[in-house]
Amino acid sequence: MSILFAPINLGNMRIENRFIHSATYEVMASETGEVSDKLVKRYQNLAKGEVGLIIPGYMYVHPLGRSYKFQTGIHNDEMIPGLKKLVETVHQEGGKIAFQLAHAGRQTTKAMIGQTPIGPSSRGRDPVNFVKPMEMTADQIQDVIQAFGVAAKRAVEAGADGIQLHAAHGYLINQFISPFFNQRKDEWGGSDANRFRFLKELISEVRNALPQGMPVLVKLNTHDYTPQEGVTPSLAVTYAGWLADLKIDGLEISCGSAVYSYMNMCRGDVPVKELVNSLPFWKKPLGKLMMKSMVGKYDLKEGYNLEAAKMIKPVLGEIPLFVVGGLRKVAQMTEALEQQYADCISMCRPFIREPFIVKKIKEGKTDSVACVSCNRCLAAVPSNMTVRCYNKGFPTP
Ligand SMILES: Cc1cc2nc3c(=O)[nH]c(=O)nc-3n(C[C@H](O)[C@H](O)[C@H](O)COP(=O)(O)O)c2cc1C
Repeated sequence: MSILFAPINLGNMRIENRFIHSATYEVMASETGEVSDKLVKRYQNLAKGEVGLIIPGYMYVHPLGRSYKFQTGIHNDEMIPGLKKLVETVHQEGGKIAFQLAHAGRQTTKAMIGQTPIGPSSRGRDPVNFVKPMEMTADQIQDVIQAFGVAAKRAVEAGADGIQLHAAHGYLINQFISPFFNQRKDEWGGSDANRFRFLKELISEVRNALPQGMPVLVKLNTHDYTPQEGVTPSLAVTYAGWLADLKIDGLEISCGSAVYSYMNMCRGDVPVKELVNSLPFWKKPLGKLMMKSMVGKYDLKEGYNLEAAKMIKPVLGEIPLFVVGGLRKVAQMTEALEQQYADCISMCRPFIREPFIVKKIKEGKTDSVACVSCNRCLAAVPSNMTVRCYNKGFPTP
């Protein structure tokens, strides 16, 4: 039997194969953050499709950490019934589910959260939302750490099988561990160890909130692609070593950030028209020029985080490594596991197009996913359009 279908343990959770549904913002929650029936249905299908572990879209742990209008919340107890329904549905189909806990930090807007976004430092204005964040006080940092802990408890109450801390893609945890975003001089900045402290404290806080053995996973960037140096492959290796010392139960590696370098995060075509459509009219002319200048620079390199995986894997010891990013061919996935570059194959866009792809691979019906990385699913996000495959010619589900 293919190595792709060998079970693996993450903490006390056993998953039946090596396929992971990488967190995918669905644009399907209510405006107050509750899980909707549509969102539940999406994951029911993925569980029916025999995905080993499902990680739904990032969930905001604190009202100030919300990025989008239709994002799922885990920031108050009223969210629990919907989250429970989501978990129960996945379990009924025999699936496993871990919640990705996130805080947007500076990667949101005043219009979304009602005040100036917060971050480790107030550095600069980003090129998309032009946000200049407010530097977090020591009390605010503690407040956010606690919010992650309480959110983890809610995940337990909802019955989730694990949690994942979203330390990638330019969100708050990524901001703390990045020398580009974090210019603090107190105990939360100034050195790699100090910048890592926030993530270290979060791991300890969520561990205390979870039952023994319930897996704590982390999604980490191996390259931020920020204008000046943020997390780089060599720094990611250092951080991975520290995460191994903290005995996390699995590490997923990615790259890029949602504001500064989203095309690094999701390599493939630049959907100029769709991206420009999502902009307010006054941003359209400049936006169009910017998007056009990006065309052809981010073509999909299959398995674009595999080189980083090869660097990270040796420092992790026994801790499973999941690699995400442009994995499209079954032969390449198999090789990645057989050569021990990684332990699990994580995918996002391919599951948007084919929720049943794992089953198809298992039954030997395909040797490649159908996703062509046109990125129209990504471009739908700023327009608040529900996630689905918007590729021309692909039937609407
Ligand atoms: C529509 C969309 C939504 C996404 N939402 C999230 C998210 O909530 N959390 C996250 O960590 N990554 C998110 N990502 C990034 C993916 O998880 C993944 O890292 C990236 O798409 C590369 O993998 P792929 O080539 O298999 O798509 C999203 C990507 C897309 C296209």
